[in-house]
Amino acid sequence: MGPVMSFPEERPRRLRRTPLLRGLIRESALTPSSLILPLFVSGAISERREVATMPGVFQETVDSVVAVAEEAVALGIPGIILFGIPDRKDARGSSAWDDQGIVQVALRRVRQAVGEGLLLIADDCLDEFTDHGHCGVLTASGEVDNDATIELYAEIAVSQAAAGADIIAPSGMMDGQVGAIRSALDQAGHGETAILAYAAKYASAFYGPFREAAECSPQFGDRRGYQMDPANRREAMREIELDVMEGADLIMVKPALAYLDVVLDARQRCDQPLGVFSVSGEYAMLKAGAAAGGLELRDSVLETHLAMRRAGADFILTYFAREICRWLEEQA
Ligand code: PBG
Repeated sequence: MGPVMSFPEERPRRLRRTPLLRGLIRESALTPSSLILPLFVSGAISERREVATMPGVFQETVDSVVAVAEEAVALGIPGIILFGIPDRKDARGSSAWDDQGIVQVALRRVRQAVGEGLLLIADDCLDEFTDHGHCGVLTASGEVDNDATIELYAEIAVSQAAAGADIIAPSGMMDGQVGAIRSALDQAGHGETAILAYAAKYASAFYGPFREAAECSPQFGDRRGYQMDPANRREAMREIELDVMEGADLIMVKPALAYLDVVLDARQRCDQPLGVFSVSGEYAMLKAGAAAGGLELRDSVLETHLAMRRAGADFILTYFAREICRWLEEQA
């Protein structure tokens, strides 16, 4: 007689045998209620225009952004985040806090159309509005002036809240931006307006397509003087703690796929609701992989986004939000 094979007591495959068993032990899930759709709205075009590097994503007009917002409601998406492309830029980015600015106009129009049916989030930054493309105002020597910039972020936030934003999302990575925005909102009577802090935002190569979509590439230099070094993980925890102390209601890590270790750390270290931004380059990468024939788009997108939830993200900002909702409906 040959040797007796010995099996371990535990047999994980026992619980993978049928769809019901697999469903019973599934630890994380993707649902429409955890998705936020980013949208670009432009004051410089008269018809919506597809972004060449992001097939299926458009620069919207005010009219078309309202239509997309209504589509989002119908799909069960709880919120959108608006990025504005103004019809004029200057050194200070002054159209960013103009009551008639593109984001403010779009916020009012979308609110009129959807009422309380959608959370309206406004990105609060200057790079789309400055002629030099940096996220803040510059000193005489061409550095981004931190303290002058956060005063402007505060003004932007107040005008966005007045136009109906539920949540202000500062993305410029200036020190003290959350505190400055919180106190300005409170002083202006917008105590109910929440802050979603891009708490750990890295200087990433994956923002490439966004810069085409939002027409905001820096005209000189780069953003490494304010965005985080991709090498750093512990530093992200300090950034998050600072934002929480300054009054952030929700925190976020950005980008997503290459930074899921940071998401996991953040989930373990703090109890704030945690989001992740699956950025333009991640969208472009999956779309290009599928177009080239190597990837099945639906399965790849569902898998990567499920991984973001598994790492600990409560909610995901993703250009795939609409597709994901349709696919989940098909599966149900
Ligand atoms: C800056 C901002 C950027 C993104 C969101 N807000 C670009 C940048 O920092 O260069 C990138 C989002 C994406 O790539 O999808 N206002």
